[in-house]
Amino acid sequence: MKTLSSTFVSLLAPLALATAAQAADATLTLQAGNPGPVVQPEVYGHFAEHLGRCIYGGIWVGEDSDIPNTRGIRNDTVAALKALEIPVLRWPGGCFADEYHWKDGIGPREKRPAMINTHWGGVVENNHFGTHEFMELIEQLGCEAYVCGNVGSGTPQEMMEWVEYMTSPADSPMANQRRANGRDKPWKVKYFGVGNESWGCGGNMRPEYYADLYRRYNTFVKNYDRKNPIQRFACGANNEDYNWTETVMKIAGAGRMDGISLHYYTIPTGDWGKKGSSTDFAEEQWFSTLERTLRMDSIIANHSAIMDKHDPRKKVGLIVDEWGTWYDKLPGTPSGFLEQQNTLRDALVAALNFHIFHDHAERVTMANIAQTVNVLQAMILTDGPKFALTPTYWVFEMYKVHQGGTVLPVDVEASAYQMGDRKIPRVSATATRKGKDGPVHLSLVNTHPSEDVSLTCSLGTLSAKSVSGRILTAPELNSMNTFDAPESVKPVAFDGASIADSKLTLTLPAKSIVVLELR
Ligand code: AHR
Repeated sequence: MKTLSSTFVSLLAPLALATAAQAADATLTLQAGNPGPVVQPEVYGHFAEHLGRCIYGGIWVGEDSDIPNTRGIRNDTVAALKALEIPVLRWPGGCFADEYHWKDGIGPREKRPAMINTHWGGVVENNHFGTHEFMELIEQLGCEAYVCGNVGSGTPQEMMEWVEYMTSPADSPMANQRRANGRDKPWKVKYFGVGNESWGCGGNMRPEYYADLYRRYNTFVKNYDRKNPIQRFACGANNEDYNWTETVMKIAGAGRMDGISLHYYTIPTGDWGKKGSSTDFAEEQWFSTLERTLRMDSIIANHSAIMDKHDPRKKVGLIVDEWGTWYDKLPGTPSGFLEQQNTLRDALVAALNFHIFHDHAERVTMANIAQTVNVLQAMILTDGPKFALTPTYWVFEMYKVHQGGTVLPVDVEASAYQMGDRKIPRVSATATRKGKDGPVHLSLVNTHPSEDVSLTCSLGTLSAKSVSGRILTAPELNSMNTFDAPESVKPVAFDGASIADSKLTLTLPAKSIVVLELR
């Protein structure tokens, strides 16, 4: 049985019965001669909000800190993110964006007014990390800026002046204020979000009302720097709220926006009141987490179908600017700080989502995992000077080879991984090629917690002679990196694959992610 999707396997129930309790066989066909769209590097984007210890502690420590920093920004965080070739960073929120007044975050730090971060723990925000500090971070990272503007509690004038402050080269009031604060040259802001979650924390609006507000606010997001026009994103839907996408696309759609967002979080239980632990879980939660994360595929497909009606030429990107796992907070951490650990399970979640994003590369032009440091499905955990990279970080690091690659469709046939009556694909795969004749990268996930998969891949027209690769796996489903043992989950070389007679063969270990390079 062939699958409709290029990524996911068909669910061959009889084969599943026949192969229970042994290594399963699977086949994969690479359609090297049938290239698809390019995976935009921004699909590997990140999101950093003024929330808990993401910005303060995780990124910003201040110039007087003992933690090694460059102009207040911690060096270890920057080095780790640069190693991912981070393409874009979204800031300042999230929910925080719609209560953020940017003028409070400029000028001498000791004179900046404080505010209450009402969404996230009610803590006092001292505004020490503002526009100049964010743009400094962007320059240190060498990535694009994605700034989210305040529609919920701000005015069009405030939004217009922020864009002028950041991007105008003119002898104009806001640009001169920027100069007075120490920055002569305008910054480049490639992406600008007109509000965040306007259906919820961003103002509890109806889609009709937001769509009209989008039209109004967007009018004042001006291109002061004509050589670098800003791409504007409308606030999009939560999960399966297809009416939001339909309404906003209809009223405000194509021609007025470059993207519309989508937020979908993976909650193992599906119950916001009791989401489940990030560290203590059994196979049932392993399965349900992967099962729920795979819903991203149909959610994107359904929103895309609506967008196709209003934007058949696919000019508007679907911007998945918040995604990832969301568990119960770690015991002992403040409420509203959204602190969780990160295990091998999160690594598989990240890899499976990337496969889905590649499958929808025509429409999904950016995705931003929530969030970069110390919050939700983080790349990095810090505690004062202590620092650890998470299993999710290593997936971003292994998968960076896919940034800018051309999708090569793959068809996989394998038995399902089954729990009671529920089934998910046992094997998920994605392939991209760098340039026309460059190396092909084939990434594979075995979702089964205990059974290896014996995989035979037909390479079709690809005349690859050699294969090398890396694997990410760990002894336990909940293996994790801690400050005391920061390298428990880390990729190592994988030499279990070989090529002969246009066939690639390998054994894909249980609960693993393998990235192969074929030359
Ligand atoms: O990422 C945490 C929060 O989740 C964001 O602030 C908000 O946009 C979403 O609800």
